[in-house]
Amino acid sequence: MKQFLVINGPNLNMLGIREPEIYGGQNYETLIEQIRTWAQALDCQVECFQSNHEGAIVDKIQSAYGRFDGIVINPAAYTHTSVAILDALKAVGIPAVEVHISDVRTREEFRQISYAGLACEAHYIGLGFAGYQKALEYLAAL
Ligand code: DQA
Repeated sequence: MKQFLVINGPNLNMLGIREPEIYGGQNYETLIEQIRTWAQALDCQVECFQSNHEGAIVDKIQSAYGRFDGIVINPAAYTHTSVAILDALKAVGIPAVEVHISDVRTREEFRQISYAGLACEAHYIGLGFAGYQKALEYLAAL
């Protein structure tokens, strides 16, 4: 059975509360339940991890080396700042897919750069929670 790691970055634990007009009204727990359901339907195992700390995300990516077949990552604000997360994804060499709930392409200028995205082979942006489903489907099909 394929093993996937789903990583969510800072403030995604505040889903449902934070800017619902941008990120929707559903909370983080609901997202995780949906991810588990989608993974089960694809016959895959999934581990979900959320952190507000860049170093913790780097540690988690490093610990995935040799243990996971794919990484789904929404680095949240660290998308636009973190060379460390980009380097960690490159270091482990695990197929990675970038997800953003909102359409960052149509938002502020500072959201137009994605460092982590440079190490990802697919990108699902602005699809809401469904982006995570697409990402799992992509990895399952590899
Ligand atoms: C986000 C987009 C980022 O720009 C933002 O900082 C987030 C969430 C998204 O899923 O739409 O926290 O990654």
